[in-house]
Amino acid sequence: MQEKFEEIKIKAREELKNISSLKLLNDIKIKFVGKNGEVTSLLRGMKDISADKRSEFGKMVNDLKEEVNAYIEKKESELKEKELQARYEKESVDITLPAKEEKSGSTHPLTLVKNQIIDAFSGMGFEVFEGPEIDSDYYCFQALNIPKDHPARDMQDTFYFTDNILLRPHTSPGQVRTMENKKPPIKILSPGRVYRADDDASHSPMFHQIEGLVVDKGVSLCDLKGLLDEFVKIMFDSETKTRFRPSYFPFTEPSVEVDVTCCKCHGKGCSLCKGTGWIEILGAGVVNKNVLEMSGIDSNVYSGLAFGCGIERIAMIKYGVSDIRTFFENNVKFLKQFDRR
Ligand code: PHE
Repeated sequence: MQEKFEEIKIKAREELKNISSLKLLNDIKIKFVGKNGEVTSLLRGMKDISADKRSEFGKMVNDLKEEVNAYIEKKESELKEKELQARYEKESVDITLPAKEEKSGSTHPLTLVKNQIIDAFSGMGFEVFEGPEIDSDYYCFQALNIPKDHPARDMQDTFYFTDNILLRPHTSPGQVRTMENKKPPIKILSPGRVYRADDDASHSPMFHQIEGLVVDKGVSLCDLKGLLDEFVKIMFDSETKTRFRPSYFPFTEPSVEVDVTCCKCHGKGCSLCKGTGWIEILGAGVVNKNVLEMSGIDSNVYSGLAFGCGIERIAMIKYGVSDIRTFFENNVKFLKQFDRR
């Protein structure tokens, strides 16, 4: 019997030595320690063993089973390790290969410029408030000191839905909506789309403005000058200067048009500034007392300043874009030039 046991051990070891796959290992497992395997079958011989020797025999079979199992487990871990190594080798990555190009989108130049303007003013304590694009005659005109049939309505060629409902032609209604809802001190920016019946290389029927409004005690034209001087230095470069020209808007008094020194020639005169050295960037002024009063603000206590600039205009000046329509054509080559992340 002892011999038979030894024989099985040797055979198991021999067979295990020559295999190279887990599949074959499993076959061997079945062959020796499976339900009908050689080791397990030895137990069937139990009945021929005398009662007093049975327990010893059973122990011997179990020991043999354990030993054969130990061989199998050892081989199994060797084979698994080998298989893993082979997989590592097969799956290894050549890090010297050039990477695949990842295509990513970029921020639209108008969004970029809008964010730059907001960043510049939020550094000076301004908050953002967005008003509706479809608005009423009251907010777009009347509350801004432009009554019905006032000639200043011709300054903007407005798209009307009805006599009373229209596409806002400027972001100035944002001033009124803010003053109605907020007590001074007020310091807000109101960016958004505006619409006018105008269409050529420098005008688009839809474009973007950003409105600024400050209302507090003792606010004056000097504050406007200081604020805009700071803004243009952040937006263009630290050498940029402003120039205020008298102008007219019904909602500001006095009103000004603000020019900056040309960012291309720095005031010497070039094609961008048409030889003048200056470029107009926005309209502004001290908020008309009528406008404050109509929005429920006591003009004897408070005063305000407001400005409104075209985002396309700033972007065109800053990046030398000559046709406003290129912003809306969605030509990826054009759009990609601006956002250098
Ligand atoms: N709303 C004016 C425009 O569209 C700009 C402006 C805003 C002027 C605020 C003065 C004050 O031209």
